[in-house]
Amino acid sequence: MSSTSFPNGFLWGAASASAQIEGAWNEDGRTPSIWDVATKKQVRHGETCHTACDHYHCFREDVALMKEIGLKSYRFSISWSRVMPEEGKVNEKGLQFYSDLVDALLKNGMEPMVTVFHWDMPMWVYKKGGWLSERIVPLFRDYTKVLVDALSDRVKWWMTVNEPGCFIMNGYLQGVHAPFKRNYLALSKLTRNCMLAHAEAVKTIRQYAKQKPMVGAAFSTGAYVPKTDSVEDIEAARKKSVEIGNGLMANRWWMDPMILGKPVKAYGIFSSKEKDMAEICQPLDFMGLNIYSSMNYGDWGDVEQAPAGIPRNSLGWVIDERVMYWNVRFIYERYGLPIMITENGLAAHDTMSTDGKVHDPKRTDFLCRYLKELKRAIDDGIPVLGYQHWSVMDNFEWAEGYDPRFGLIYVDYATQKRIIKDSAWEYKKIIETNGARL
Ligand code: BGC
Repeated sequence: MSSTSFPNGFLWGAASASAQIEGAWNEDGRTPSIWDVATKKQVRHGETCHTACDHYHCFREDVALMKEIGLKSYRFSISWSRVMPEEGKVNEKGLQFYSDLVDALLKNGMEPMVTVFHWDMPMWVYKKGGWLSERIVPLFRDYTKVLVDALSDRVKWWMTVNEPGCFIMNGYLQGVHAPFKRNYLALSKLTRNCMLAHAEAVKTIRQYAKQKPMVGAAFSTGAYVPKTDSVEDIEAARKKSVEIGNGLMANRWWMDPMILGKPVKAYGIFSSKEKDMAEICQPLDFMGLNIYSSMNYGDWGDVEQAPAGIPRNSLGWVIDERVMYWNVRFIYERYGLPIMITENGLAAHDTMSTDGKVHDPKRTDFLCRYLKELKRAIDDGIPVLGYQHWSVMDNFEWAEGYDPRFGLIYVDYATQKRIIKDSAWEYKKIIETNGARL
């Protein structure tokens, strides 16, 4: 046991996203999103997110399980097409679902944290051009306003977008995520529209929120772990992490304009231009960081050139907990904003054992290792506000379907039965001791 615990009020939580858990894809007035129409060839085993964890119907049970684990916060996203099934139309039933979820969380002592956009763009928005069209900016503003009007009396924490780097790169450049496009030439335009939409959302939240909000965005980030603790190696890792090459694309491309108001140019193209800076750079209260793997073995740690036998998760991503410390540190040194870990977790092939339980020692080990490294960053004086484990429950892992299980709670998809995994019981004890148990 370490002698010191985490800061008072540290938000120990877990995270999810609407498309990955809700299901009920065509109920109560909801219209399809770009993920609902993904074809059998685009998702492994031809799976769909139409039912997923059926959280739409099971949310009360799920909140009860979260309480059982002792979570202090829960980060979830809103399905845009559930609350706005077509342009200009608000679906009261859809909003009611989120309102009930928020009430259930608060009643059970958990802080709700809303992500406005976590990848499930409505088809009707996509048909108007999606991120390729500047029309997305006012549409995103109007959507955000609907959420703020309905929820901000109870919701204080807001994240505008989840991992812009990922949904633009995967969805519009590499064609591996919905809407499965390969359009490298549009990168500047896509980035700009996305940043402008984020900025409008930030302003909207601040203008209409019924209580003082905490506003941020959740970034897919990455960092290199220094080879040794020498000053030179640390400086080399810092440079590669946040200034040049892969680090530039993973971090600076988005964060410099959105947080520092600095335009970025790379490979001959701009992520942003000087004339847009005043608009794009809206003050944020925190940065959400989604941290999984180090960049030492390639940009996202899911690569071949890592040494044989190195620890990996079931998706092949290298496990190196030191990235938690270095990523937080390099980002804080450059951007200076308080940090919320908005995602961190392990994919595994978890199964139910004959005793009816789910033993997931790798996840328990992962959790403890990464949290200890987070504590190191806190001990350095970096303001870290909380940790939202990815994920609260097993779910639809986008184009990878249901095989990779990231949850603290196991989901038997055939019956929708839930089982709290061993790692979650350990997390409960960590939370109860405010981290002193680590
Ligand atoms: C995303 C999640 C995803 C997780 C694991 C993040 O990139 O925000 O939606 O499930 O990583 O791949």
